[in-house]
Amino acid sequence: MRAYDIIKKKRDGGAVSKEELSFLIDGLLKGEIPDYQASAFLMAVFLNGMTDEETVSLTEVMLRSGATLDLSDIQGTKVDKHSTGGVGDKVSIILAPLMATMGIKVPMLAGRGLGHTGGTLDKLESIPGFRTDIPLDEFRENLKNIGISIMGQTGEIAPADGKLYGLRDVTATVESIPLIASSIMSKKLAEGANALLLDVKTGSGAFMKSREDAVRLATTMVRIGNSMGVNTVAVVTDMDQPLGKTVGNSLEIKECVSALRGRAANDLMEVTLTLAAWMLNLADSVTEDTEVGKMNEFVLKKYKHEAMDFIEKGDAFKKFVELIDAQHGDPDVAFRPNLLPVAKGIKDVSAAEDGYIRRLDAEAVGAASMLLGAGRMKAGDEIDHAAGIILNKKTGDYVKAGETVAILHYNNDCSLKDAEEVFRSGLEIGAREVAKRPLIMDVIIK
Ligand code: URA
Repeated sequence: MRAYDIIKKKRDGGAVSKEELSFLIDGLLKGEIPDYQASAFLMAVFLNGMTDEETVSLTEVMLRSGATLDLSDIQGTKVDKHSTGGVGDKVSIILAPLMATMGIKVPMLAGRGLGHTGGTLDKLESIPGFRTDIPLDEFRENLKNIGISIMGQTGEIAPADGKLYGLRDVTATVESIPLIASSIMSKKLAEGANALLLDVKTGSGAFMKSREDAVRLATTMVRIGNSMGVNTVAVVTDMDQPLGKTVGNSLEIKECVSALRGRAANDLMEVTLTLAAWMLNLADSVTEDTEVGKMNEFVLKKYKHEAMDFIEKGDAFKKFVELIDAQHGDPDVAFRPNLLPVAKGIKDVSAAEDGYIRRLDAEAVGAASMLLGAGRMKAGDEIDHAAGIILNKKTGDYVKAGETVAILHYNNDCSLKDAEEVFRSGLEIGAREVAKRPLIMDVIIK
């Protein structure tokens, strides 16, 4: 077998076999196939796509490139949730303790923010002492004892993804449905969960700008998960404007604490409770050993209601405190969020005219937050946990000229002007009201 022939086949629109994919990926990891040949293959996939069969094979090869967790000795139904990434998306930090307190085990391997998007690990690490680099034994112990554990991806899990993602990042081949699907699913299937809920974001702040592409990505990932014996559901949700009222790490943790105490922005609570309902439904399908079924309005409402009850009773908040404690963080932060890192400077962004907010572009807000220091331009960059943006207004709100739309939080003002400019480039105010985009767009079961 030769890498050249595999690249040529894909370049000419052919389908490659699992053996060919194994040859390519194994060779790349062993250093026998050079980066330039792997990059050429990635570009051929980007341009010509892959069949479902090829995408499943690629996922399997990437999954088998590293270790998989065996959680079978841990009692209970293990369900994880993964978001394809967005701006202000702090749902995992509210949802994971909520599910754990409702009896579902949540083994979560989370990611870091890159570019305009945020990452769960960065947000949690803004809690003084919180460790996301815990050893695997501790991850298992926490899951067993408190029903939840969150850590970063280790080099042992799907190393092929680490290598391929690095190449995709510099060869403009990230935005490809088969490559994104295999990248995400190879990591998620290594976790040993019984079921998986995917939150596939769509809109300006997401990888998938159009709803159609988001549905295609969601369908591909659901097929891969189910074909590998993990009950998988994907919910396609809006990411055209940021979720909730904050963007930036410690600001988002503060918002999560409020949400866990029952005081959340409507959009954040709606997405969290909808995903909670689907996780409960997935857990039931595992317990009953059935395929995941559609939920009618009545069942959906019932699950949402039950989940809200656990927030209102304070149980989800208590579980969050347990999680912080178990992962070496300062649990006082949950009671006194002012212990979180606070930026030295703030700057109001005010409305230039009266009118309705017609656009609050998620990508622009995320990019502005990154310029303030909350995100990284490239993997490995340092971030400022205190930096970020508070949104006083969201799309559809009415503002008066001079009223504050957002507050920029910064420690370093060298990019403050650029950040404000980028933020304003994503802000449109006009006389006419704008139709609201639905928050929950599609649910993909099979
Ligand atoms: N997240 C991943 O893990 N991989 C991708 O390719 C895109 C988003």
